[in-house]
Amino acid sequence: MASKAAPLQSGSGAARGARHVAIIMDGNGRWAKKRLLPRAAGHKAGVDAVRKTVRAAQDMGLECLTLYAFSSENWKRPEQEIMELTGLMKRFIKADLDEFHSNNVRLRIIGNYTAFEPEAVELIEGALAKTANNTGCTLVIALNYGSQDELVRAANRAAQKGEITLEALETELDTADLPPLDLLIRTSGEIRLSNFLLWQAAYAELYFTDMLWPDFDGKALATALESFAGRERRYGGL
Ligand code: FPP
Repeated sequence: MASKAAPLQSGSGAARGARHVAIIMDGNGRWAKKRLLPRAAGHKAGVDAVRKTVRAAQDMGLECLTLYAFSSENWKRPEQEIMELTGLMKRFIKADLDEFHSNNVRLRIIGNYTAFEPEAVELIEGALAKTANNTGCTLVIALNYGSQDELVRAANRAAQKGEITLEALETELDTADLPPLDLLIRTSGEIRLSNFLLWQAAYAELYFTDMLWPDFDGKALATALESFAGRERRYGGL
């Protein structure tokens, strides 16, 4: 008889007090290489991990999940790989939007997604419009996103309005309407932030795992949140 996996906790307690979790999804290429598969197979498996993780986040009652899907530096990758990643994103929206929408998930994008091909932009805008009034988990996908670029844009906008203060800059960030970042996860054993949510990570807890992104799932998210629950957050105080 197949052994049954223990059910994941659901409800707001399962998020262990975290409201906003962000993930640097790394290791798709290495996952594929280990299996002698093309990199595209790693990205495809990465999308399955995205599905599992979003469903778990939603079940746990997490308010916001931000995923780093394409950085502003990823344009340096071979054109073929960029096409494959764009294709996967389009397929993800086509195949999963209805399920997310019926589960009250709201889609948000940070970064300049208009740089992608017109068909992808159209699909993204349709998905944003369709889910805009949903009140469940906010799924934020970072596309053509770079934190330094976000900060420069925010600083310019704040300067046009007056003095650049902490609050003025914060309200101009792409993430202005999102809850503060509680936990930043990076998979694949790399220990760096790679230009992701640099400002927002100021007081976030960081969690690094050797697990490659395609192996990530709800159980892995629960393990990261368990680690988060054990941290003492002092925000610079005693
Ligand atoms: C890093 O692995 C992963 C990426 C650059 C892309 C992440 C994209 C996905 C998981 C698929 C598309 C996402 C959505 C939301 C539909 P890597 O290629 O850098 O791996 P490596 O470091 O092992 O080579």
